[in-house]
Amino acid sequence: MRQFTEDNLTDEVVARLRKTKDKRFKEIMTSAVKHLHAFAREVKLTEEEWFEGIKFLTAVGQKCDGKRQEFILLSDVLGLSMMVVALNHKTAPGATEATVLGPFFAHGAREYGYGGDLREGATMKGEDVWVSGRVLSVDGKPVPNAALDIWQAKADGIYDLQTEGEFELRGRVKANAKGEYAFASYKPKFYSIPMDGPVGELVRATHNNHMRPAHMHAIVSAPGYQQVITHVFVEGDPYLDGDAVFAVKDSLVARYEKLGAAEAKKLGMPEKSLKLSFDFKLAADRADAKKARKKIAASDAVA
Ligand SMILES: [Fe+2]
Repeated sequence: MRQFTEDNLTDEVVARLRKTKDKRFKEIMTSAVKHLHAFAREVKLTEEEWFEGIKFLTAVGQKCDGKRQEFILLSDVLGLSMMVVALNHKTAPGATEATVLGPFFAHGAREYGYGGDLREGATMKGEDVWVSGRVLSVDGKPVPNAALDIWQAKADGIYDLQTEGEFELRGRVKANAKGEYAFASYKPKFYSIPMDGPVGELVRATHNNHMRPAHMHAIVSAPGYQQVITHVFVEGDPYLDGDAVFAVKDSLVARYEKLGAAEAKKLGMPEKSLKLSFDFKLAADRADAKKARKKIAASDAVA
């Protein structure tokens, strides 16, 4: 077939996907082609504009390296990451709500037991905080031997992956057999998403908020349970209602309180420390969740 026009081109491109063996891949590609063509038609895309688009996507790719993931950031600010999270986490009532992974997760962080100190090796001080809680099933039973992958920004709002140094304020914290976990860290602070790349230019051009409310990231996993990728936000943060990546859920906002002198002494924390108590609730495992987890674990790249 030849002589393609704006009226028959989409059907022909879709028809050429007919030999695709993987049914799901074929479904995704068919829909992507239809929506991309519809988008071009709707905005009457000019050649110059599409070339600008290609230049932008090229720059996003070129900004990625072993530590920087500009495509995840793009997905985040377009709300696509949160849309995918929302579509895939509807079936676990009572479980801790999921939210975006973000661009700053890294494999290979140091392991800590109960009461570990994630401030070790930190190049910048912050407000000391004792973080503790339990990992529970949705019906409130302790989940033994869970692992909590924790990461957060330094006091200046910059993640360790954005600088040349070692991992900081990041660790894999093991809960005990009773489902209890605890570690020392610093209180997170609000921060700007990276604005020095093409995604920053995009956000600037649209005059959108580029700030994220303060949060600690957590991936909580335990055998027999669905893994949850989530955040714990700081109550009272000024950016809770305008998160640049649409990730805030009310159930994930927690209060940082004073630890108290006696308790601080007992825990070996500085006198004016804070405490954060947060329980994570996990839903029982499903076959498809297992598959998704395998995919994340299989990737050695920054994700
Ligand atoms: Fe973050």
